[in-house]
Amino acid sequence: MSAQAARDVIYFACAPTDGSPTLQGLAALGWNLRRADSMPAVLKILRGHPGLRFAALLDLRGGFDARDLAAMAPVLSASNAGWVACVQPDQLTQEPIRQLIRDYCYDYVTLPCPELVLSTVIGHAYGMASLSPRALDVAPDSNDGMIGECPPMRALYRALRKSALTQAPVFIAGETGTGKELAAQAIHRHSSRHDQPFAAINCGAIAQNLVQSELFGYERGAFTGAQQRKIGRIEHAHRGTLFLDEIGDLPLDCQASLLRFLQEGYFERVGGHEPIRVDVRIISATHQDLRALIAEGRFRADLYHRLCVLRLEQPPLRERGDDILRLAENALQRYASEGRRVIRGFSPCAIHAMHTYEWPGNVRELINRVRQAVVMADGRLITASDMHLADEHTSMLPQTLEEARNVAECAAIQQALRRNRHRLIDAARDLGVSRVTLYRLMERHNMRRPESETSDAGAA
Ligand SMILES: Nc1ncnc2c1ncn2[C@@H]1O[C@H](COP(=O)(O)OP(=O)(O)OP(=O)(O)O)[C@@H](O)[C@H]1O
Ligand SMILES: [Mg+2]
Repeated sequence: MSAQAARDVIYFACAPTDGSPTLQGLAALGWNLRRADSMPAVLKILRGHPGLRFAALLDLRGGFDARDLAAMAPVLSASNAGWVACVQPDQLTQEPIRQLIRDYCYDYVTLPCPELVLSTVIGHAYGMASLSPRALDVAPDSNDGMIGECPPMRALYRALRKSALTQAPVFIAGETGTGKELAAQAIHRHSSRHDQPFAAINCGAIAQNLVQSELFGYERGAFTGAQQRKIGRIEHAHRGTLFLDEIGDLPLDCQASLLRFLQEGYFERVGGHEPIRVDVRIISATHQDLRALIAEGRFRADLYHRLCVLRLEQPPLRERGDDILRLAENALQRYASEGRRVIRGFSPCAIHAMHTYEWPGNVRELINRVRQAVVMADGRLITASDMHLADEHTSMLPQTLEEARNVAECAAIQQALRRNRHRLIDAARDLGVSRVTLYRLMERHNMRRPESETSDAGAA
C-alpha cells in the first residue's frame, strides 16, 4: 500500500460512556485522532480548518438528549466532516437514534468492533466528506448569477468576458438546461451595449408561420389580421443584443431572411418595402447538433458560419463535479421557505446520487428536483428519495465492504474523469495517483479508456 498523509478523525461522545472505543490503534492505521469534549469544541476544529476534511465519530453509547439536536445539527451538517455513529446494538431500536443516524451520518458501527473495520468505515465517511465542495469555495452568484467553480465553468467565464469585448456573433452550444440563456445575458451585461435592450426570441416556441413576422415585424395590411404596423424583435433590439434561442428550429425561409440581414445590415418588415437598418449584436444558441442539421439539409451552412464566429460550449451538469452540490445548495437556499420544515442540507445518499445521476435536463432539472424535495422532505436533510433519485441509487447499494470500496473507487474515478473531460493525466492528479495507477484501477473496474486521453471533448 502506498504511504499517505495522516487523515484527521474527530471523536466526540454525547454522554459519558463506560469506556471509549479502542481508538489507540487508529494512529497506526494512518489516522490523526482529535478528541473533542463538546459540540462547540468540534465546531472549533471544523471552523479552524475549512480547507481540511474530517471523519468524525459520534459516540452515542451513553445516549443523547433529542432536545440537543437543534444545537448539534449545524455541526453534524458541516460540509467538511463525514460522521459515523458508534452505538450499542440495542440502541438501534430507538427512533431518535435511528433518525439521527439516518439524517446526519454516513454510517454507524456497533461497538466494540475491530479497529480495522472501524478504520474502513471512517475511511468511507472521510472519502465522502472529501467529495463535498469546500465551504469557503461556495460563492453563489459571483458570476452573473452563474454558479460554478469547476475548470470548464471557469473557462466559460473567461470566454464570456472575452466575447463581450467584441461585436462578433456568438454561438452557444450546450445540452438543454445548461444555462445558455444566462450566458447570453452575461455577454450582453459585460458588453458596451449593456445599457441598450436585450431582446430574446425562442425560435422553437413560435409557430413556424409566425416566426418571420415576430423577427422582422410587419406592415399594416401585410396579411389578414395585420391591422397595424408591428415592430419585430430585431428592431426592438436596436443598438442592443438579439438572442436567438433554439436557432436550429428556425424555418428555412426565415434562415434566408436572417442571412440576408446579417450580410446586408438591413431588412424589410413583412409586407413592407422600406429597408430598415438596425444595429444589433447577435447571440444564438441551440441544444441541437447544428452540423448534423446541416448534413440533413435542415440548416443553411452559410448561415451557420455567419452566426458561429465565436463558439462557446456549456458543459453538461454531469461533468461539473462539485458544482452539482454548489448548485443544489443554492437552489435549497432559494426555495427553503417553500417547505414545511427547516431543511439543513443533503443526506449522504442524496449527495452520492447527485454525483452519479446523468442529469439529462441539466441545471434546470437539478433546480426542479431540489424544489420538489424541499416540499416533500420529511427529515431535516434531503434524501435521494426526496429528489426521486433513490431508484438509481439503491440499485447500486453495495452489500459487503469490499463492494462498498469498489463502488466508492469507481464513483471517484468516474467523477474525476468527468471533471477533467476524460483527460487521464488531470484526473489522475485530482485523485492523487499516478497515471499508471489510474490505468490499472480502470482496468480492474472494467472501465473503458477514453479513445484519446488528450482529446478535449468540449473544444469548439
Ligand atoms: N450556472 C448556473 N448557475 C445557476 N443557475 C443556473 C446555471 N445554469 C443554468 N441555471 C438555471 O437553470 C435554468 C435553465 O437555464 P437556461 O434557461 O439558461 O438554460 P438553456 O441552456 O437556455 O436551456 P434550454 O436549452 O432548455 O433553452 C434557469 O433557471 C437558470 O437560471
Ligand atoms: Mg434556453
